[in-house]
Amino acid sequence: MTISTDTTDSTGGSPAAAVDNMTEFAGTDLHDLCDAAEAAITAGGGFGWLTVPPRQVMEAYWKGVLLVPERELFVARLDRTIGGSAQLQRAPRNNEAQALSGNLTTSFMAPWARGHGLARMLVLAVEVAARAAGLRVLNLDVRESQDAAIKLYESLGYQLWGRHPHYAHIDEHWVTGLYYFKDLRAHDAAGAGPESG
Ligand SMILES: CC(C)(COP(=O)(O)OP(=O)(O)OC[C@H]1O[C@@H](n2cnc3c(N)ncnc32)[C@H](O)[C@@H]1OP(=O)(O)O)[C@@H](O)C(=O)NCCC(=O)NCCS
Repeated sequence: MTISTDTTDSTGGSPAAAVDNMTEFAGTDLHDLCDAAEAAITAGGGFGWLTVPPRQVMEAYWKGVLLVPERELFVARLDRTIGGSAQLQRAPRNNEAQALSGNLTTSFMAPWARGHGLARMLVLAVEVAARAAGLRVLNLDVRESQDAAIKLYESLGYQLWGRHPHYAHIDEHWVTGLYYFKDLRAHDAAGAGPESG
């Protein structure tokens, strides 16, 4: 189901940008999602993967995501081809104390799909889903080297609360991680600012 659409053009102008809540893979979706993830991994932004895994491992990962009750998968499309994704991860049912919190996780865009507003659309789609699920807080973490993502999250009202000096180990070096949260009730649905009521 398409839940967010930006530019739509059938006349040769801007490519059509859209975000879907993915509940099943159709057509070339799984193939395209694997391709996009591989391109992001190769470019150094592969949500934890440092090297491209075998295709069957990648396919199994995405199929597994759809089976996890606490996860919702969102995909970003440029002219209908998947170029990136993000997930909303809710707490497991036993974790009642954190039932109102979720994680915005595994966000990436393939290099060819960047610069069209899709990462922003993905974050907003995850926020819409989080609100619909009754969540009040979204958490996320990001390497401090990922400047574009940090700029995006801070522009949408995510507040930095912590730094982890041993967040990730890449090329024999520790990379610092930044931890953010957003109070969904303190921001309007566009993520722009405090609600009036
Ligand atoms: C971060 C990333 C997801 C942005 O994807 P995108 O689709 O190009 O982003 P958008 O077009 O939606 O841009 C949204 C905002 O991101 C920020 N941004 C995007 N590209 C940027 C760049 N090259 N430099 C600085 N900020 C940038 C800006 O705040 C931008 O808003 P603006 O256009 O109003 O200035 C993408 O660059 C990426 O995958 N990077 C590598 C991996 C990564 O950082 N993943 C996130 C880990 S949590």
